Amino acid sequence: MKLSLLLTSLAALCHAAPSLLQPRASLQQVTNYGSNPTNTKMYIYVPDSVKSNPAIVVAVHHCQGTAQSFFGSTPYASLADQKGYIVIYPESPYSGTCFDVSSKATLTHGGGGNSNSIANMVTYALQKYAADPKRVFLVGASSGAMMANVMAATYPELFNAVIAHSGVPAGCFMSASNQVNAWNGTCANGNVHNTPEAWANVVKNMYPGYTGARPRMMIVHGGADTTLQSRNYNETIAQWAGVFGLNPTAPQQVKGNTPQSGWTTYLWGTQLKGVYEPRYGHNIPIIAADDMEFLGL
Ligand SMILES: *[C@@H]1O[C@H](CO)[C@@H](O)[C@H](O)[C@H]1NC(C)=O
Ligand SMILES: *[C@@H]1O[C@H](CO)[C@@H](O)[C@H](O)[C@H]1NC(C)=O
Repeated sequence: MKLSLLLTSLAALCHAAPSLLQPRASLQQVTNYGSNPTNTKMYIYVPDSVKSNPAIVVAVHHCQGTAQSFFGSTPYASLADQKGYIVIYPESPYSGTCFDVSSKATLTHGGGGNSNSIANMVTYALQKYAADPKRVFLVGASSGAMMANVMAATYPELFNAVIAHSGVPAGCFMSASNQVNAWNGTCANGNVHNTPEAWANVVKNMYPGYTGARPRMMIVHGGADTTLQSRNYNETIAQWAGVFGLNPTAPQQVKGNTPQSGWTTYLWGTQLKGVYEPRYGHNIPIIAADDMEFLGL
């Protein structure tokens, strides 16, 4: 590239993104967010452009991830700069850094497990930043997507909408011997099959007696996923269809080549959205605009 062209490009870049030249808000750890029986770390990103009464997005990392790595590798923080919402990044306390989606404690509302710590982060941030309780969202990838389904089941009162990128149904990873943070190969390999009614009962038993609103759910999966086999997509759709009283095999709308060529979007009213791409494996990309549209941000 010619030097003059390089300088022109650089000038254009600086003009387009003046924030590159200024110090910007950074990821901060919060140590006093309330009861934290599992020693789960909380990090928060409050953009310089934070709005009053802001929305909150909880962004939950994959195995071997950290709050810092997920902050850097996903689009949620730069979108927070644009849209003025707050992002909470929980960090797993377990070796291997997956989240606990297997113990009885984490699969129970108020059970003192990993999910309880994350719920307490939300309660803390709502108060501290006078955030909007009607616009609290959670997104997760892989282990974070498994946790997304668990959070929607255990703390439905906290969230307006939840997105799971490459996860498994809530309760699918349960440990028969009540181990914390256990791997469940039967579920991972796509060999747990339930009716929508049975899956709905798994959800309802995590918070018995709850009759309030439940979060809208968006389930994203690649059909060539060999880590959390793609059958888990169908089972997760069955789970939430069961909870909402919908027919999992009869979406009201099917949109081909949406959000991108080769992907298909399935809509059951506004409550449930499935996004499936048969050729992608476990690392199916996060399409930020599609997430934002579902969350209404
Ligand atoms: C794996 O999860 C299923 C429920 O999805 C459960 O029936 C099974 O016992 C679990 N396996 C282990 C080894 O805990
Ligand atoms: C799961 O759902 C996808 C998308 O609707 C479909 O293409 C696939 O055949 C389903 N898989 C099974 C095992 O039902």
